[in-house]
Amino acid sequence: MKKEKSRFICDNCGHVEFKWAGRCPACLAWNSFTENNVPASGTKKTHGSSKLKNPVSLSEISLSAGSMMREDSGMDEINRVLGGGITAGSVVLIGGEPGIGKSTIMMQLASVLSLKKKVLYISGEESRAQIKLRADRLGITANPDLAFFFATDLDSVTGAISKYNPSSIIIDSVQTLFSPEAGSVPGTASQLKYCCQELIDIVKSGENSLFLIAHVTKEGIIAGPKTIEHMVDTVLYFEHSENDMRILRAVKNRFGSVDELGLFRMGGSGLQQISSPENAFMSSREGENPPGICIAAVHEGSRVFLVEIQSLTVPAKGGISRVFSDRIDSSRISRIAAVLEKHTGLRFSDQDIYVNVAGGMRIKEVGVDLAAALALYSARTGIPLPSKTAAAGELSLTGEIRPVPFTEKRIKAAAACGISNYYSTAANGAHSKSTDRSETVPRSFKEADNINQIIKSVFSKKHPPATAKTI
Ligand code: TYD
Ligand code: MG
Repeated sequence: MKKEKSRFICDNCGHVEFKWAGRCPACLAWNSFTENNVPASGTKKTHGSSKLKNPVSLSEISLSAGSMMREDSGMDEINRVLGGGITAGSVVLIGGEPGIGKSTIMMQLASVLSLKKKVLYISGEESRAQIKLRADRLGITANPDLAFFFATDLDSVTGAISKYNPSSIIIDSVQTLFSPEAGSVPGTASQLKYCCQELIDIVKSGENSLFLIAHVTKEGIIAGPKTIEHMVDTVLYFEHSENDMRILRAVKNRFGSVDELGLFRMGGSGLQQISSPENAFMSSREGENPPGICIAAVHEGSRVFLVEIQSLTVPAKGGISRVFSDRIDSSRISRIAAVLEKHTGLRFSDQDIYVNVAGGMRIKEVGVDLAAALALYSARTGIPLPSKTAAAGELSLTGEIRPVPFTEKRIKAAAACGISNYYSTAANGAHSKSTDRSETVPRSFKEADNINQIIKSVFSKKHPPATAKTI
C-alpha cells in the first residue's frame, strides 16, 4: 500500500508547501497552514465526473442555442459589470467585506431574476427569520420561482439543486460550505476549492448560472475569495466606500471588460442603482476650495467620473518622507511628488504626504496623475486651486503631460458637472478637432505640454517662487 503524502495549504491564499511553515511565503500570513493528506497516486479522488474523456476537434464542439447568450439580469448596473448581462453557464464570484451588502444585492437580484426563471438561494449563514426579515425590508414577496434552502453541507446543497432544478443558483456564502470528502475543517482553502469545484461542475454541464458570495477575510483564519478567483468566469468585488455609496468592480471577466464599475447607494430598502454617476464623487462645496483639492476626470470601466482628490503634506518626522494613500497606488503618488520636486523645484522629499479620494473610490487609471499633481502642489504651497477646476492627464518622469484617451467624453462629463476650468495636454489634439465643441467645452479649457506650464497657468499670479518656504 502506498503511503499518504502530507501537504500544507495556506488557508489565506491557497499556497501549497510540502513542509509546515510558520509564515506563508506567498501572502505572509502567520500560522495559516493546515495539513492536508493527499492519498498516494492511484487512489486520488477526482473532482466531478471521472469518466474517461477524449480530445476533440473544433468541429465536434457544438454550441447549443443558449450558450454565450446574455440574459438581462433586470438590474442595469449588474448587467454593466457582467459585460452586458448574465452569460448562460457562467460562474460569478462576489467578494467583499462582511456587512458591505453582498447578501442584499444578491437577494435583490434573485427577486428580479425569479420573475423570469427559477432561482434557488442557498443560505448557509443566515437563519430563516433573518432571510425573511431582509426580504420584507427589500419588499420581496413570495414567488414560487424563488426558493430558499438552508444548509451548509455540500451533499444537501447539490441534492437541493438537482431536486429543484433552478436556472440560477446563489450560494451565500461559499465559506460556510463543507464536505467531509475535502478533509480539514470548514472555511479552509481546501474545503473552499473542493466545494466550489463540485458546484461549478454542475453548472458547467448545463446552462445554469452560479453566483458565489465570498467574504474578504482578515489574514489566516478563513480562506478568502482569492483562493477561488481562478476557478470562476467573473470576479466582482464590492469596494469599500466611505458613505452609503457601494461600488461593485469587475476584476476578472471572461465575458466582458475588467475594471467596469457598478454604482449603488445603500438605503433603507436595499441598494438603489445610481445610473448617472458622473458627479457622485464630487463634494457639494460652495465657494473657494481649501488648498490641496483638485478634481480628476477619470475614465474607469466605460464611464467618466469626476472625483475629488484631496491631499495634505506635513513635515516628516526625522526627515524621512512617507506616503499614505490607499485609494491611489502610493508608489504612483511618490513618483508624482518626485516629478514635481524635480521639475518645479518645490520640495516634497522632507514631507509626509496624505492622499485621499472623496467618496472612497479606488482609482487605477493613469489619467488621475495630473489632478493628483495639482492637488499636491496646492497642498504644499497652501494656495487653493480655483473652484470647479478639473484635470486629466498622465504625468511622465520627464515632467511632460501625456495624453489619455476619451478626451471628448471627459470634457463632456466635466461640463455636465459644472466644471469651468479643465486642464489637459495639447498632445490630445482636442482643440484641433473640427467638431463643434462649444456646447461641451467648459468655459476655460487649457492645454499644456508639461507640468510647469500647467502649474503656472493654474496658479497664475499667485504662483510663488519654487523655493518658497511653506508651512
Ligand atoms: P448585507 O447584505 O447583510 O452584507 P454582507 O452580506 O455583505 O455581509 O448588508 C448588511 C448591511 O447593510 C447592514 O449593515 C444593514 C445594511 N442594510 C441597509 O442599510 N439597508 C437595507 O435595506 C439592508 C437589507 C441592509
Ligand atoms: Mg451576507
